[in-house]
Amino acid sequence: MKEQLLEILEKAKNHIESTKTLNELEQFRVNYLGKKGELTVLLREMGKLSKEERPVIGKLANEVRTSIENLLEENKAVIKEKEKNARLESEVIDVTMSGKARKVGNRHPLTLVLDEIKRVFIGMGYKIAEGPEVETVYHNFDALNHPKDHPARDFSDTFYINDDILLRTQTSPVQIRVMKKTKPPIRIISPGRCFRSDEIDATHSPMFHQVEGLVIDRNITLGDLKGTLDTFAKRLFGVNTRTKFRPHYFPFTEPSGEVDVSCFKCSGEGCKICKGSGWIEILGCGMVHPEVLKECGIDPELYSGFAFGMGLDRITMLKYEIEDIRLFFENDMRFIEQF
Ligand code: DAH
Repeated sequence: MKEQLLEILEKAKNHIESTKTLNELEQFRVNYLGKKGELTVLLREMGKLSKEERPVIGKLANEVRTSIENLLEENKAVIKEKEKNARLESEVIDVTMSGKARKVGNRHPLTLVLDEIKRVFIGMGYKIAEGPEVETVYHNFDALNHPKDHPARDFSDTFYINDDILLRTQTSPVQIRVMKKTKPPIRIISPGRCFRSDEIDATHSPMFHQVEGLVIDRNITLGDLKGTLDTFAKRLFGVNTRTKFRPHYFPFTEPSGEVDVSCFKCSGEGCKICKGSGWIEILGCGMVHPEVLKECGIDPELYSGFAFGMGLDRITMLKYEIEDIRLFFENDMRFIEQF
């Protein structure tokens, strides 16, 4: 039995040299020390030995077991170290390699101008309000004092979803929503998309953008309206900009007006942009109609206010001398990348 033990040890020593992975090492362990391993099986024969032989062989058997266990441990450390080094080598990164440049997009011209408009009004203490693009006829027309036979209500001008719901034709319905849920003082602007059944051409699109403004408080006068819009025009188009208020009609304001700014290109001398007049129309405005205040639960004896609405697409076209509104919505990068 002594020879057999030494033979097993010898075999194990040879075997260990060919184990290269942790899996193979486990196989090695099973082969010798496992339940059916060679050493374990041999030791079961111990009972057959004589009393004298037993302690001698037992001692040797323990030594062989310890030797095999040591082989196993030593090799495990070596293999682990090798595997770690191989992994480190394969995961090496070259920090001197130049990176991949990511292309950063740029802002759409409509967003650029809207951001400027927002900056001016936020600077004057306004908040931003939002309303739905799919709107009720009530908010878009009735509450804004449009009589039932107002031409804008015509099916040929407005996209109706059904008799009561439409795609909003203006951002003015946001005024109604804000007045109904907020107590004065109110000072908001509300940018957003609007829709009208217009033929598409260089200056018309069935989808376009407006920025609405609304101020309600005690003692708000036409003077406040003029001062606010004049300040706005100077901040957006430059300090030398002059404004002109022309009377106009809107059902939801009384009195109503339109505002022209002196042409920022020719300063009023007359050029292609202002079509020779020296003036450019930029918005509609007026003092909020008492009927509209009443409809929203605001007492017109206590409160007054002004409102305005400007065409964002038009202002952007003027500012950047863009000649065709369709360019805004075609997503042609050659156009967008210019801003
Ligand atoms: N909603 C009007 C339009 O689409 C613009 C407008 C005019 C808005 C006067 C207003 C206003 O708030 O007071 O033509």
